[in-house]
Amino acid sequence: MNILAIETSCDETACAVVKDGTEIISSVLATSAEMHQKYGGIVPEVAARRQLESVLPVITEALSSLEPLSIFTGINKHIDAIAVTVGPGLIGSLLIGVETAKAIAFATGKPIIPVNHVLAHMFANLIDHKQSDENNKVTKNTITFPAISLVVSGGHTELYLMESEKKLTWLGGTLDDAAGECFDKSARLLGFENRGGAAIQEAAMKCQISNAKCQIKLPRPMMHDESLNFSFSGLKTAVMREWKKQENQTEDYINTLAYEIQEAITDVLVVKTLRAAEKYEAKSILLSGGVAANTRLREKFSSKLESLSSKLALHAPPPSLCTDNAAYIGSYAYFYGKPIDWHDITAIPDLSVEVTI
Ligand code: KG4
Ligand code: ZN
Repeated sequence: MNILAIETSCDETACAVVKDGTEIISSVLATSAEMHQKYGGIVPEVAARRQLESVLPVITEALSSLEPLSIFTGINKHIDAIAVTVGPGLIGSLLIGVETAKAIAFATGKPIIPVNHVLAHMFANLIDHKQSDENNKVTKNTITFPAISLVVSGGHTELYLMESEKKLTWLGGTLDDAAGECFDKSARLLGFENRGGAAIQEAAMKCQISNAKCQIKLPRPMMHDESLNFSFSGLKTAVMREWKKQENQTEDYINTLAYEIQEAITDVLVVKTLRAAEKYEAKSILLSGGVAANTRLREKFSSKLESLSSKLALHAPPPSLCTDNAAYIGSYAYFYGKPIDWHDITAIPDLSVEVTI
């Protein structure tokens, strides 16, 4: 079954064709990151205008590997369903994907499947990926359930119990800011503009000192709290206070602060996720969302799991499938989505992620 998936929930315009929820036939992404660099952040109006220009070229390119001649012939011949992100996200951006998908479904008579962007992130773990170091050998992702799924994106930090591809239960999430928001605001404070967590990771790698010798100590909010919720706004404030306290912000200082920010955020994410895994006797841990691209977070999970007596498998998509793209939108639609009448599809900016299905 081939699904044409469309994603426009934030500043990206993405389209993918995904076979049987696991195989990427094509995946195309247009980002307006350089425009946001210019305006100092995402300006919803600017993002939506750019998406309006990009959406049809991006869909055309995603389909071109199937049928170079015409979009409609391509869809009619090769596509079984259309999937589209309906929320959560920016209303102007969502509407572009939703209305485009609706028009395609209307014109072709194909079923249309609404997708929850945040839940969809975790389905990146079900997509087969090529190992560049093994002659492009395809790795099949077989997940042993129950799994604990941590979704860490720019706006969300959520934990789910996944009992199968079709059964998800929300366990907890952030009470205020997401881990990604903390990375992004800290990055801006440290002078990395809008390059976010990736810039903090890069600076942290240059830090020469070890954890034990780090002079800067930031809090690990709610790390020892029994609940499976998170809070990162206090950490954001602590970073700001630490920054203001320092008169001479040398490169060494910035790298050390970046290191400690990354340590604090990743410590909390690892401890909470493992607590959930223990509580629900999970057999696997799934990471997803842009922050899951962080190499230190992956390292910490790997080494923690190795040291545990219980066997827990770690799944983390390649970084290109952690950050926003349409491939996992197609995967979610295949495994978890339900087609609905195109009349009933609507953009829902505040779509709940606290599901039990
Ligand atoms: O999933 P995503 O691409 O978009 C949302 O749905 O929000 O996540 C974006 C978030 C941003 O906060 C960005 O700073 C963070 O992912 N991010 C990282 C890394 N790469 C992206 N955070 C830490 N380390 C990274 N390497
Ligand atoms: Zn996302």
